[in-house]
Amino acid sequence: MSPSEPSLRRAAAFAPSNIALTKYWGKRDARINLPLASSISVALADLGSYTVVQPQPDLPEDVMVVDDQELDPAGMVKVRRVLDQIRELSGSSVYAGLRSVNTVPAARGLASSASAFAALAMAAAQAYGLALDGPLLSRLARSGSGSASRSVPGGFAIWHAGHRADGADSFAEQLYAPDYWPLKVLVARIGGRKKISSTEGMRLQGGGGSPYQAAWIEQCQRDVESCKEALSLKSMRRLAEVVEGNALAMHASMIANRPPLIYWQPATLAVIEAVQQLRADGCECCFTIDAGASVVVLVEPQDARIVAETLAQIEGVEEVLQTHIGPGARIVESREEDL
Ligand code: PMV
Repeated sequence: MSPSEPSLRRAAAFAPSNIALTKYWGKRDARINLPLASSISVALADLGSYTVVQPQPDLPEDVMVVDDQELDPAGMVKVRRVLDQIRELSGSSVYAGLRSVNTVPAARGLASSASAFAALAMAAAQAYGLALDGPLLSRLARSGSGSASRSVPGGFAIWHAGHRADGADSFAEQLYAPDYWPLKVLVARIGGRKKISSTEGMRLQGGGGSPYQAAWIEQCQRDVESCKEALSLKSMRRLAEVVEGNALAMHASMIANRPPLIYWQPATLAVIEAVQQLRADGCECCFTIDAGASVVVLVEPQDARIVAETLAQIEGVEEVLQTHIGPGARIVESREEDL
């Protein structure tokens, strides 16, 4: 410990998972997760991560336990990347013990890494005595997992791709508060652990694997503008067009990759068809799919029950989680027994 160590303390944060309305799938810098295009998301109210950080002068290195399992070396590299920046900002050389509990099932097409890194950035900043603004916290979270940048502001958020090589202009901010458009969010959980992580999938596709990569990125740039417009009008018809189109374009570019990145299962397609039929029947809803088989449905409150019941009956849908749009990362009370 250096003589001028800042005041260190245990701190905890909760951060929500988020679902992209227009996706991040392509990096201009893989080391610090700088995206090729901006993206827009909604934060999920009660699905997320609770993370406790305890700086400890006697620790020889950082250690992290996630859902009762010690984090693997690849995960620790990302965690250290965030912690090292925080230590540099605070002037500390002390390592930390960390524990994170997810309320999102890992690797099922729901971004548990997004909430985990957003909670980590916020709790660690507090633990090392830093008072950081939203954009800087978002940038720190981004360096752990790109989509984590959007879990920091929460609500309806936009992650600006930025242009700078150091990533100073690549952070997320809130477009609208959670209650601006009080949509329900249903998660039709399908399948086990995904086989190819987002990091690996983007690496394979970024290396010239997909013949549609350039078209996909250009589409994202247009879709961000269309999505902003659909949100400003609160038009489900317009939102469905851009959100579904963007997810399908991403999966088309993945499927066309060599080697192919096929995340879907038969139930994924069955849910897509059901949502389109429900909409044709007058339900105000639309779907999106991340890098996994699960399908997320945004729905106006009055139609949530019928949509949830319909999806729950589809073969291969293990569970339909119901939530709504919620706020971003926040400091919560830490409990001694958590570490
Ligand atoms: O941040 P990562 O590495 O977990 O990548 C997230 C990628 C997608 O979930 C597929 C899209 C997105 O924008 O969240």
